[in-house]
Amino acid sequence: MNLKSPKYVPGHDLIKGKSVLITAAAGAGIGFSAAIKAAEEGARAIVLSDIHEGRLSIAVGKLKQESGLAEVYGKIGNVVVEDDVRSLVDFAEENMGGVDILINNAGLGSSKLLMEMEDDEWNRVIDVTLNGTMRMTRYMMKVMKARGQGGVIVNNASVLGWRAQKEQAHYAAAKAGVMALTRCAALEAADFNVRINAVAPSIVLHPMLRKSASEELLAELEAKEAYGRAAEAWEVANVMMFLSSDYSSYMTGEIVPVSSQRS
Ligand SMILES: NC(=O)c1ccc[n+]([C@@H]2O[C@H](COP(=O)([O-])OP(=O)(O)OC[C@H]3O[C@@H](n4cnc5c(N)ncnc54)[C@H](O)[C@@H]3O)[C@@H](O)[C@H]2O)c1
Repeated sequence: MNLKSPKYVPGHDLIKGKSVLITAAAGAGIGFSAAIKAAEEGARAIVLSDIHEGRLSIAVGKLKQESGLAEVYGKIGNVVVEDDVRSLVDFAEENMGGVDILINNAGLGSSKLLMEMEDDEWNRVIDVTLNGTMRMTRYMMKVMKARGQGGVIVNNASVLGWRAQKEQAHYAAAKAGVMALTRCAALEAADFNVRINAVAPSIVLHPMLRKSASEELLAELEAKEAYGRAAEAWEVANVMMFLSSDYSSYMTGEIVPVSSQRS
């Protein structure tokens, strides 16, 4: 394989027969890619969730069409709102007969120097990215424990949870929090056979991200990568599938970088 121009990796039934719930799954990035991958890896049912109603219904239709999977559901939900979190997990449990795999993909950022950041902006990024992941994980753990069949949770962190970047103090702090949450929750969930891990991607370019950051910055970030390019969303989704599958049965509380950065 040429690492600079990756060849799409077909499915290998890594999660055959499993049911999957994915948050923030109606965008142009990792969430929807994870949904496509889950179908290709043999999932029997998938619930897509997002805050954007229009995009969600398009995503559900597209996934059904591309995968041929009959059991694809859409459910509006904001990970910041506890009632939404509970009704989303309950909906997925009822419609799929239990959730085997939860992919906590929701997270967002902005670019602002710390000295210019208002509390509102700081809090919004922390609330969606860290608190949202916590809310989903907390309720899913209770439900998986009660069901007694084990399960897997995969969180989406970022290399910025480890590394520094100007104008990213809020996002980096949130992602460092997601990493700590993953490790601590995994220790508690091991008691009832639930594994919790996270991926930490470096950069995935997609149209929505291109709108929110300057071309210069994105080019600079790509240049930092050993491969000189951003990851494809499906390259991150592949690692999520590995962490969702029994191939990672001896991994919990781990943060897996999906990155070719040298420093
Ligand atoms: N794109 C990157 O370069 C990159 C790098 C590292 C980490 N990540 C992380 O990957 C995850 C996915 O990001 P992406 O850029 O691939 O986009 P994505 O397409 O996977 O996600 C965007 C979607 O999130 C939804 N969303 C936003 N706020 C929400 C909320 N409160 N509740 C539910 N849904 C919400 C949006 O409506 C949108 O459809 C995020 O957690 C992000 O921080 C992305």
